[in-house]
Amino acid sequence: MVSKVIQYTTIVFISTVAISSIAYAAWWDSKRRNDPAFRKKIRKEHKRIHKHAKAAEERAKQQQTEDLKEALEMIKVEPVPPTAEEREQYFMQHVGVGEQLSVQGPAFYVPAALSFYRALRVYPSPVELIMIYQKTVPEPIFKIVMDLTSMDTRERAEGYYHYFPPPYMNVEVKQILQLGEPGESEKGPRRIVLVATKDLQPGEEIYKEHPVVAQLDMDLEGTSRYCSHCFKEILPFQSLSPVHDLLLSTYCSGECEMLASTQSQNLLFGRGPRVPDGVALDQKERSEEAEIERRAYQQAFADFLKASNWTQVLLVARFCARQVAEEVKKLEPQPLSLLERSRLPEPAAGSPNYTFFDHVERLKYLDIKPIEMVMLENHLLKDVLSKAVDGLEELVSLDKYLMMKGKMAYNAIGVAFAGGRDDKPEPKGHIETWEWSRTPYGTNRQIGSALYRVSSNLTHSCSPSVRPTFPTGTNELHLVANRAISKGEELTMAYTYTHADGDESEEDARRRRRTRLARGWRFACECETCAGKKEGLPGVATLPQPILEHAI
Ligand SMILES: *[C@@H]1O[C@H](CO)[C@@H](O)[C@H](O)[C@H]1NC(C)=O
Ligand SMILES: *[C@@H]1O[C@H](CO)[C@@H](O)[C@H](O)[C@H]1NC(C)=O
Ligand SMILES: *[C@@H]1O[C@H](CO)[C@@H](O)[C@H](O)[C@H]1NC(C)=O
Ligand SMILES: [Zn+2]
Ligand SMILES: [Zn+2]
Repeated sequence: MVSKVIQYTTIVFISTVAISSIAYAAWWDSKRRNDPAFRKKIRKEHKRIHKHAKAAEERAKQQQTEDLKEALEMIKVEPVPPTAEEREQYFMQHVGVGEQLSVQGPAFYVPAALSFYRALRVYPSPVELIMIYQKTVPEPIFKIVMDLTSMDTRERAEGYYHYFPPPYMNVEVKQILQLGEPGESEKGPRRIVLVATKDLQPGEEIYKEHPVVAQLDMDLEGTSRYCSHCFKEILPFQSLSPVHDLLLSTYCSGECEMLASTQSQNLLFGRGPRVPDGVALDQKERSEEAEIERRAYQQAFADFLKASNWTQVLLVARFCARQVAEEVKKLEPQPLSLLERSRLPEPAAGSPNYTFFDHVERLKYLDIKPIEMVMLENHLLKDVLSKAVDGLEELVSLDKYLMMKGKMAYNAIGVAFAGGRDDKPEPKGHIETWEWSRTPYGTNRQIGSALYRVSSNLTHSCSPSVRPTFPTGTNELHLVANRAISKGEELTMAYTYTHADGDESEEDARRRRRTRLARGWRFACECETCAGKKEGLPGVATLPQPILEHAI
């Protein structure tokens, strides 16, 4: 997507850059020769010479993998030039070197591949560049570049849970054996869940986190009752309403307005510059006509949202916009201001720089069918994104959109203060199209929904061990223990209202919540309360009474 923002073109790549390749090769060679680790490798190589040829080949392969790993580590700590211009220069330089080395025979394949890999690191659209490499770079070298790429990706993917959640959150992601499997053995099917990393007292706060994206319910947008960014209740006459905002969003403070605007609101519903000044963007002049067209598409999207009251599409839209904002920030010459930082949990020290998508990639998602209304909302969103920056609509191609919507549908948590509200309008249309969010108070009591990075991994139980709370009167989630929890125990929350209501019998309540879980998350609850193993035991009856928090 950012390829459309910076103008490195394929032409840049194909033009040969005059670089003293011989000097580079010599530098590489001398560096290797003077490196003690490399000399040690040579000595090892000598010892090996008499061994069986096949084994040697095998080891050589392994050695190459290790060499590549080592090289990859080195490349990863090399600084990437900060400005777009310098990156372009860096890119051209390394492609040039790669090209020169690649014609000098097999001995130079690895260094050539490393150069191409360096160029790849700074290229805004790596997939596109890989396709170009495939056509233009000699095959053995291309293969090494691909090895490096998959090594890097694998390491990021596998390393993720070393850094998230960070230790101060008192939870970790663990694989545990599936409950209730006959003959539970070490080999049984496993579930990936959140467990406590220390003993917890009833009522203890375990961690808090800000949402990745959040959206007020549509009937509250534009009413000045709650801040569209942080969900805080707004005092009379204190709301800020940006003039050109087509969703008519309102904010509790200048800070919230600014954060919302830079993270997603401006891109989706505003008319400010699409990306900040000072970033090298596509220099294509935006005609006034194009701006009018952009506003028309934004208006159509806003009208659709107001008419349908659907918010999952907006959660997806905001998520995409945040990804764009994140990419743009990388290109900004100025250091990030404190305000613009994401406010997501800081990873443990030494973490790679994971992106928004890294955090959401692993989450479970519902399989969403591309029915007519879904196609329509996808279309409207595509239009808005493509009119903001050419090519951006690819972020929400139908496949990607269905998956992202499925993630929001499965993971979004309802935000409710003081037990929730009574005036949320009943959704219209077929019940299968209703949107559900995880909330122990019921989706009908929430004021909005939000996606949280760590809390998404909480499993459901009808007698949950923890509950989400919002004691600051904002959408910052504080996770609180319902009862004593021991270190290593799985943490569970109720995705839906589980109490028996009024004169409802326990059995009716059981049926109702199981229907809701099946509809909203498509699973049959196997928790102990549902399975009847713990009938009559505390659990459902001791669910937290929803009066503990209050909006300030
Ligand atoms: C959306 O919410 C408004 C209340 O703000 C309500 O009047 C309207 O009927 C709702 N529309 C649908 C389709 O649910
Ligand atoms: C992550 O990004 C910061 C600046 O944005 C940079 O200083 C740091 O070196 C990066 N870390 C890694 C492991 O790439
Ligand atoms: C937790 O995350 C893992 C992937 O990292 C996923 O497989 C698992 O289903 C998630 N659990 C829940 C309850 O969402
Ligand atoms: Zn606010
Ligand atoms: Zn249950």
